[in-house]
Amino acid sequence: MPDLHLIDHPLIQHKLTLMRRAETSTAKFRTLLKEISLLMAYEVTRDLPLKLETIQTPMATMEAPVLAPEKKLVVVSIMRAGQGILDGILELMPSARVGHIGLYRDPQTLRVIEYFFKVPEDLSDRDVLVVDPMIATGNTAVAALYPLKQAKPRSLRFLCLLAAPEGIAHFHREHPDVPLYAAAVDEKLDERGYILPGLGDAGDRLFGTK
Ligand code: URA
Repeated sequence: MPDLHLIDHPLIQHKLTLMRRAETSTAKFRTLLKEISLLMAYEVTRDLPLKLETIQTPMATMEAPVLAPEKKLVVVSIMRAGQGILDGILELMPSARVGHIGLYRDPQTLRVIEYFFKVPEDLSDRDVLVVDPMIATGNTAVAALYPLKQAKPRSLRFLCLLAAPEGIAHFHREHPDVPLYAAAVDEKLDERGYILPGLGDAGDRLFGTK
């Protein structure tokens, strides 16, 4: 598969299993998603460039590495479940900039409609990380990436927790140039487009709306 990065660290796998359990509470689900996001963020940001800065320790002067990009990373959350991943990443990178994209599916035409789009101005010299816990059919992820590509960020990558093979294929067909990071790839979709075995509706479980 082109550019699918499976981040399957044992801690992530263990926490994901806890998230999948039907009896896991909303509070626990939220905490686990935050923790997994933090762990995944390590891997997703592994190749961020560094530069050397002269600093003074209590003992000596040294050339020490700091993140090179002048402009902060932008994390774009796909509403609403993306918020759960965003919260974890902001804990690790509190000064990251944030964007939001809202999409829904028109029940008549089944087309994905964008109802909200707000990202930092001028993405041209920024690295952008788009987050959404689930890639099921891939429709939302695919649609979210088009307006972002128009803003021509320096780099674009996508982080999810769980993906279905159908969604990954769709994603790669439409956006073969965007690296995709996931903690696990599940078996298939059901007839309503839910991931099996999955973890249910990530938004409902995160916000306790069901
Ligand atoms: N979105 C979810 O929250 N869960 C799924 O299984 C599929 C899409």
